[in-house]
Amino acid sequence: MYQNIVNFIQELYGTKEFIPLHEPQFFGNEKKYVNEAIDSTFVSSIGKYVIEFEEKIATFVGSKYAIATSNGTSALHIGLKLVGVDEDSEVITQPLTFIATANVISYCHAQPIFIDVDRDTLGLSPEKLKIFLEEHTFINENQECINKTSGKVIKACVPMHTFGHPCRIDEIVKICDAYNISVVEDAAESLGSYYKGKHTGRFGKVGVFSFNGNKLITTGGGGMIVTDDEVLAKRAKHITTTAKVPHPYEYIHDEIGYNYRLTNLAAALGVAQMENINVFIDKQRELAQEYSIFFKDTDIAFIEEPHEAKSNYWLNAVILKDRETRDTFLKYTNDSGLMTRSIWRLMNKLEMFQHAQCGDLSNAEWLEDRVVNISSSVIL
Ligand SMILES: Cc1ncc(COP(=O)(O)O)c(C=O)c1O
Repeated sequence: MYQNIVNFIQELYGTKEFIPLHEPQFFGNEKKYVNEAIDSTFVSSIGKYVIEFEEKIATFVGSKYAIATSNGTSALHIGLKLVGVDEDSEVITQPLTFIATANVISYCHAQPIFIDVDRDTLGLSPEKLKIFLEEHTFINENQECINKTSGKVIKACVPMHTFGHPCRIDEIVKICDAYNISVVEDAAESLGSYYKGKHTGRFGKVGVFSFNGNKLITTGGGGMIVTDDEVLAKRAKHITTTAKVPHPYEYIHDEIGYNYRLTNLAAALGVAQMENINVFIDKQRELAQEYSIFFKDTDIAFIEEPHEAKSNYWLNAVILKDRETRDTFLKYTNDSGLMTRSIWRLMNKLEMFQHAQCGDLSNAEWLEDRVVNISSSVIL
């Protein structure tokens, strides 16, 4: 059976050589724009491509503002700071995510709380979130959501759109609003994914994207903060650019800022990639359709886009019967030159986060044992 899968994927990609999980594709103006950036000498964080890239992302996702950053992790870190996460705060997120989602909570010296995901979306479960908040929190006289166990304020919630599949973000935002918890959407993986017709990253106060080399489109390394809030947008620009007070020649900084700027060189790549964003999305969705048809005749379930969602299918994934079957599958495919990988080890099982408060994590644990990513490079 597994050999049939290997054959099928080798045929899709037209090769019997090693097939990586997700390779970037450059078939547009990438070299032209990068060369232009070099010729202009504006290779660092000031230049026309940074502005153009921000405008292109804002227009594409439909946000009022977009602020480019050095990577998705820095965008997420600033996203949390924008909504006031500090050393006295706690932040709810899902245990099934890439490490950056949890790391940035620690960068703010805040504590994470891990709440389960749904099996169909792989993202934060609104039902489990509601249960946790009802059982473990109360609203104090300052209208803050207080964790009964720790006595700390739960300031933010970071849902993540896993592999580009939107979670039930509208319900999550509604619940968080009722508890005065700010939503920072980790949309690092979901550029081009929509929930109920609205682009992911636009439901929370702040949304964040990544343009790492393995993402749908890339700047080599890069990120973006999107928001409709002018005050937050201005603050994001300020603290990602060392908090320098504008002045023609004096160097004055009014708080501890960060050098989280995207370079013009990287943005040049991003502008060229964005010119073909719809090609990337269409091709990814065509590939997912091929997988969907193929896996229907097998005992392996292909993960489809959730109900009422349009997914970018950034990383295709399947569900194996159990952990043992998963491990056999991983070994067979990798030995055959097909790069496949298991989903992340749950955050609460990592040494750094093992003491974090958790809700019931039965879905995340079930998925951790079974989900495998399969070849997902765009086929042109
Ligand atoms: C869910 C998630 N969050 C955050 C990040 C961080 O982005 P970056 O690698 O650009 O720092 C990534 C990916 O890399 C991610 O997949």
